[in-house]
Amino acid sequence: MFELPPLPYDHAALEPVIGRATMHLHHEKHHQKYVDTTNQLLGEQGARPTSLEDVIREAAGKADARKLFNNAAQLWNHTFFWTCMSAKAQTPTDGLAEAIDRDFGGLADLKAKFVELGAAHFGSGWVWLAAEGQTLRVVDTHDGDDLLTHQGLTPLFVCDLWEHAYYLDHKNDRQAFLEAWFDALPNWAFAGDQYAAARGDGEIWRHPDPVSSSGTGAAEKRSNLGR
Ligand SMILES: [Fe+2]
Repeated sequence: MFELPPLPYDHAALEPVIGRATMHLHHEKHHQKYVDTTNQLLGEQGARPTSLEDVIREAAGKADARKLFNNAAQLWNHTFFWTCMSAKAQTPTDGLAEAIDRDFGGLADLKAKFVELGAAHFGSGWVWLAAEGQTLRVVDTHDGDDLLTHQGLTPLFVCDLWEHAYYLDHKNDRQAFLEAWFDALPNWAFAGDQYAAARGDGEIWRHPDPVSSSGTGAAEKRSNLGR
């Protein structure tokens, strides 16, 4: 059984970009629902997966497992989303800062590209900063889709484009949400670790594993939340 990972910060920590009320709804209602539905569908199958990544990759290849894929991927995406935000404003450093200059021309240019793609995305989805080997890319995915099924792309951070992510705080102005989000919330230290891992230095982030029958597992794996 997968569990709802705790937030790595207080519900009000991301204000004013993301308010306390949004965080409560987003985490305890939306994210919890994806946890519950994933567990329900796996339970109906009698499945005992060892990782959420395995669930997502296996479901992605089956036409009759679309509901499981959507819910499992949304469970993964939201846990990753909480992890790649920081309550304290940061800036990119070291190799990641150099790569941003090389691939986008600077942080302002990356922001413009990230905001433009996210604001133009039609409907629900996600906008990602990703690494393809050494090269940084900004990509968007629809609905629950993530980068696990996109060969060669490692996510560095992501922003949620579903209306539940920003409507209470920014109404219909997704662009304003994305601009404020990019300036204040990316966890650049985490993104830098992901970028290093994409190049073979360290381990790429994994979702906390399901709780085993002995009652342990997920909590131990959750230690990389909250950086
Ligand atoms: Fe969401």
